[in-house]
Amino acid sequence: MRGKPLFPFAATAVLGLLSIFLLSLVGLNVGSEQAAENGEEQQEETSDDPIELGQSVYEGNCASCHGGDLGGGVGPALDGGYSADDVTTAISEGPGDMPADIVQGEEADAVAEFIAAENE
Ligand code: HEC
Repeated sequence: MRGKPLFPFAATAVLGLLSIFLLSLVGLNVGSEQAAENGEEQQEETSDDPIELGQSVYEGNCASCHGGDLGGGVGPALDGGYSADDVTTAISEGPGDMPADIVQGEEADAVAEFIAAENE
């Protein structure tokens, strides 16, 4: 009898410690994966690529009228051979029912680049 009951206690203690250790490793892993994902998202938002910026400007400011895939809606489809100049002109003049100057400066240039690239 002597010593025997001790073993299960020791085993339980070791198993317990081991599982705490393993769980904390899993926790650390999940934490760093999430940190990596957050980093990627931030990169997308602050991207230097004008086409990518243009696409998000388009989705936020133009897609409601011109369709998610430039396919048109309230406004005409924008996949019919538009150049970047056509787009910046439309943005600053606001033809017909389209509001003028809904985006400006760098965002207007970026969305023009994006649409021109889609029209190539
Ligand atoms: C409120 C709805 C609306 C929004 C938002 C809108 N447009 Fe328009 N857009 C229109 C309408 C309507 C026309 C057609 C105007 C006309 O010729 O009568 C148009 C026309 C255009 C044209 C064609 C001009 C031409 O000469 O054929 C371009 C290019 C254009 N829009 C780009 C954009 C871009 C880029 C954005 C986002 C920055 C945008 N539009 C946002 C409604 C909108």
